[in-house]
Amino acid sequence: MNAVLPVVYILQPIDNIQEKYLNNVLSAFGVSISFRQPECEYFLQFIDNKIVLRHSLNKEKVFADFVGGALNHRVAYRGAELIAKAVNIKENRHIWDATAGLGRDAFVLAAMGASVEMFERHFVPATLLADALLRAKQCADTQAIIERMSLNFGTIFNSDLPCPDVIYLDPMFPERHKTALVKKEMRFFQAAVGCDDDSADLLNKARDMPVKRIVVKRPKHGAFVGNSKPAYQYIGKSTRFDVYLPFQAA
Ligand SMILES: C[S@@+](CC[C@H](N)C(=O)[O-])C[C@H]1O[C@@H](n2cnc3c(N)ncnc32)[C@H](O)[C@@H]1O
Repeated sequence: MNAVLPVVYILQPIDNIQEKYLNNVLSAFGVSISFRQPECEYFLQFIDNKIVLRHSLNKEKVFADFVGGALNHRVAYRGAELIAKAVNIKENRHIWDATAGLGRDAFVLAAMGASVEMFERHFVPATLLADALLRAKQCADTQAIIERMSLNFGTIFNSDLPCPDVIYLDPMFPERHKTALVKKEMRFFQAAVGCDDDSADLLNKARDMPVKRIVVKRPKHGAFVGNSKPAYQYIGKSTRFDVYLPFQAA
């Protein structure tokens, strides 16, 4: 059985506006609508006006969200200060998030005024993220932040966008943070999306570019990506940011 298929399952009837909305979100990622539950362990579903990733055997779900309280709390209090220092947000306002996932780190950076190009190669997080961006665009509190974020379906490897000041990476490893929420997300992500075994290549590609720095998010005690020692580090309670310089000075 496939882990996940590129369809969004629609259980309840939807109107024309919702169908148009869904086609608008999904077309970019090769995802379509299905009125039958896909035969796979995890599946995307449109429910309560948002797209979620669900497990076929229980009610657990994962989705991206910029409007709810948790992320706003994080922007205001937790985590933001360290990431701001790691990217040097005061001087570096143009950032590529090369591993966008559900866009939380990108949102934190954009909330602090950076303009963030996000890259995501897998249709599951890309779909969840695109849906969350569209929802947050309708909300007065988040609209201005979302306007500084844009999503690219693919990798930085074939991008012809103007080079940023900073490239930010948060690849997925088997061992990550400990909270129950992240554990659930981790399980879902690892089963549906897989681990990022090629993160050393991504770091090398990023270091080949004429940027000011490359910032890699890691668990506090996690190994260096590709065993490469960073130039310096910012260490928090459970997370660490390893800062690399490009192979050739910009
Ligand atoms: C741990 S998640 C990132 C979470 C994200 N920082 C957040 O705040 O939500 C890693 C994501 O990076 C994506 N990814 C890994 N390597 C990539 C690459 N080379 N290009 C694009 N996306 C990549 C994976 O598909 C996965 O969705």
